[in-house]
Amino acid sequence: MTLSKRLETILSFIAPCEILLDVGADHGLVSIEAMNRGLAKKVLAIENKLGPFLRLKEAIEKNQKNDAIEAILSDGLKSNDQRIKTCLIAGMGTKNAISILKAAKNIASIETLIIDSHTNLEELRRFVTAIGFKIVDEKIVYEDKIFYEIIVFKKGNAHYSDLDFIYGPLEMKRKDPLFKAKLEERRKEIETILTKPYLSLARIKSLNDELERMSQL
Ligand SMILES: C[S@@+](CC[C@H](N)C(=O)[O-])C[C@H]1O[C@@H](n2cnc3c(N)ncnc32)[C@H](O)[C@@H]1O
Repeated sequence: MTLSKRLETILSFIAPCEILLDVGADHGLVSIEAMNRGLAKKVLAIENKLGPFLRLKEAIEKNQKNDAIEAILSDGLKSNDQRIKTCLIAGMGTKNAISILKAAKNIASIETLIIDSHTNLEELRRFVTAIGFKIVDEKIVYEDKIFYEIIVFKKGNAHYSDLDFIYGPLEMKRKDPLFKAKLEERRKEIETILTKPYLSLARIKSLNDELERMSQL
């Protein structure tokens, strides 16, 4: 199955597990490919909207994965099953991912969280590390003119600086070309904002501070 760069990166981050929980499974591509590649013995594929849920069920049937992938119409991660150790939340914004994690019943038994978001990455890193996870891998993927960040969190503690939360502790060390391209896009965006009239002094200061911070990375 040929998948997008983003979905391939997500799959590359899934270590073989007993049960994979795929929240917001939609087209089912990750769930199906995770089974095809032997990354999970069983997948619980969750959707909270009827349209995507029906599409998911159809994809599972078409790929003859009925025995291995269970499609569940549910809002988030409501299972109490302590055997679920790996959870994927991909393709939705940070606010939604955080509200799913806040409502999760079995968060205590989850050992690995793989989250793909393109909004409020600082808030995501701060929240997930505050509930007892540390960042073990992260990668930026550029697709459809959007920078997605896929972050792998594992149970554990680590100390992070403000810069780690904002830019990603591993991304900052690796400084791969997409990290630099993302910073460059943000730098241009700030410069455009700074040309606009009627910006408050506080806003101008905060944007200039951000430019200064980026120039030191
Ligand atoms: C943009 S799709 C992403 C699909 C796939 N995970 C991917 O990364 O390509 C997001 C999906 O998450 C589903 N979703 C959003 N909030 C959800 C929630 N609280 N519980 C379950 N599914 C949710 C949406 O219905 C939608 O189908």
